[in-house]
Amino acid sequence: MSTPDTQQERFVSFGEQGAQLTYGSYLRLPVLLDAQHLESDPPAHDELLFITIHQVYELWFKQLLHEVVAARDAMSGGELWWAQHLLARVHVIERVLVQQVDVLETMTPQDFLQFRQRLAPASGFQSVQFRELEFLSGAKDPAYLQRFKGLTAEEQDRLQARLDEPTLWDAFVEVLRAHDLPAGDDEEIAASVRTTAHDRNRYAAVWALAEALLQHDELAASWRARHVVMVERMIGSKSGTGGSSGSAYLRGRLPLQYYPVLWDVRSRL
Ligand code: HEM
Repeated sequence: MSTPDTQQERFVSFGEQGAQLTYGSYLRLPVLLDAQHLESDPPAHDELLFITIHQVYELWFKQLLHEVVAARDAMSGGELWWAQHLLARVHVIERVLVQQVDVLETMTPQDFLQFRQRLAPASGFQSVQFRELEFLSGAKDPAYLQRFKGLTAEEQDRLQARLDEPTLWDAFVEVLRAHDLPAGDDEEIAASVRTTAHDRNRYAAVWALAEALLQHDELAASWRARHVVMVERMIGSKSGTGGSSGSAYLRGRLPLQYYPVLWDVRSRL
């Protein structure tokens, strides 16, 4: 014998109880799932994977920008717990970004060659969100605005705005000052970070933020290191579709540090 409840369930279609919203409409799936258009003709089997993985990266970059902006603003506003909470999320997403390279490496170099020539001059180098993240983190380099070809006016404006606005590092320096720690120049900042390192009871939240920033820096470096090795596996020493020297350019970017002061403090503890 079925109860009235289960009897009712039999006739109700889930998701149709009055509301207009559906899974697909909420997530805009018709648009999202219609955004994978292959350039190869006849279609190369692996091109869908190549497009999908780049789109997934861009979605995560969007989320990271959302979190990094909020973490920066939380630091400036003195909400240190919230800043730390958001940076912890940033780290987890960044680990996913590093691991995701494994998926792309299931493609062989010869299968990539089936559609690679169709991609030039497009390249990850032109990822505006990637560069926004670098600028926002602290590595501002206006030269990229000139080196980017084919940016829309809206993309130019976005990058320029990131160059003009405070970075995560600027917000951290504000946090030091708010704790009456001197932060006039790099020497003073380094000394203040050392103070927080040696008196963690008093400066627990500040030291934790310094560590969270360093973690963010380290994970960005991990991504660059993982990406260049994958690139060498795919194209060896060939030049990039974006027009750079390829792996030589990418290897030149490995030493980048967002927070050199925090790394330097390690040698002076
Ligand atoms: C077969 C796979 C891939 C190859 C062969 C490749 C190759 C390259 C090369 C050669 C460059 C240097 C710029 C150029 O001349 O094009 C570059 C830059 C870049 N790629 Fe990739 N890439 C691949 C996949 C990816 C994926 C999945 C992403 C994810 C978003 C990505 C993001 C980037 C970014 C952000 C840069 C700029 C790095 C910087 O300026 O430091 N790439 N890639």
